[in-house]
Amino acid sequence: MAEEPEINLVDLDIYQRSGAPHDQFAWLREHAPVFWHADGGGVGWPGFWAVTKHEDVAQVTRHPEIFSSARRTAAFKEWSDLAVERMRLMMINMDPPQHTRQRSFVNRGFTPRMIGQLEEHITQICSGLLDDIAGYGEVDFVTEIAAPLPTQVICELVGAPVEDRDRIFKLSNRVVGFDDPEMVTSPADQMQAVAEMYAYAGELAERRRQQPRDDIVTQLLKPDDAGQELTTLEFNFFFLLLTVAGNETTRNAASDTGTGEPVAPITVAGTMVPGHGRSWRTAPRCRADWYG
Ligand code: HEM
Repeated sequence: MAEEPEINLVDLDIYQRSGAPHDQFAWLREHAPVFWHADGGGVGWPGFWAVTKHEDVAQVTRHPEIFSSARRTAAFKEWSDLAVERMRLMMINMDPPQHTRQRSFVNRGFTPRMIGQLEEHITQICSGLLDDIAGYGEVDFVTEIAAPLPTQVICELVGAPVEDRDRIFKLSNRVVGFDDPEMVTSPADQMQAVAEMYAYAGELAERRRQQPRDDIVTQLLKPDDAGQELTTLEFNFFFLLLTVAGNETTRNAASDTGTGEPVAPITVAGTMVPGHGRSWRTAPRCRADWYG
């Protein structure tokens, strides 16, 4: 039997030092695929069950009547009943039938045609990021590529103007980085960022209602065949989810070499320079390990 590693899936320093703890996940899959993780990851947070096998994760996902996302939300922290009620307006914290309804709106925006339309511009975004670093001998991959790329693509997805990209990036970090002192200064700051994000979403929705475009936001705002629309609050929450969910996840996935080594700075010629990784931030946002 392989030696049991110390199981701690919530220690941010581990992720920062050496990426996702695949040794822990591998051990858990083999010896304790449904594992009670007593440390919930924050002061006063309850523990959680770490489900690490693909087929078990699929089973959990397919049975919302047993494994509800709405009852106490999909977040790890134990929230007040009032907060839970608000968070249930976000798709990730819904069960059917609410989830199915919202999903049907979202599906309209994320068709192969809508996404295909973005391809050319996303290629330009990638080329632009590479052009930006062309003058440097060596750059930090995370800061220069992994972080800005998802933000720019998501801004493109929702049709937000180029000049707003930096603002959306900073806001989404302040919204989600509640356990990361580098990002959030206080709960009040987080709430302020949420409020700013709503205001931004509201303005964007209003612009599209006045002047519809062939884009995802316009699709989301259209009534369905039964004449039903997403409410303003539902749209704002979806916008918040999209910007936050799409940013941090992709940034961290792109920054994880899968080898336990930090991403090295890249030379402009595109080769990796081993052993020069600067520290970066990756958070254990996703408790399920998708490699199994
Ligand atoms: C490496 C990248 C990503 C990872 C690892 C990831 C992971 C996840 C996980 C674990 C969930 C929860 C699923 C569940 O509760 O059943 C989720 C949901 C979601 N993610 Fe991602 N995600 C990634 C990228 C993105 C991107 C790029 C976007 C948007 C542009 C996005 C938008 C969403 C949305 C909208 C939900 C809620 C879906 C629903 O409730 O049906 N994610 N993601």
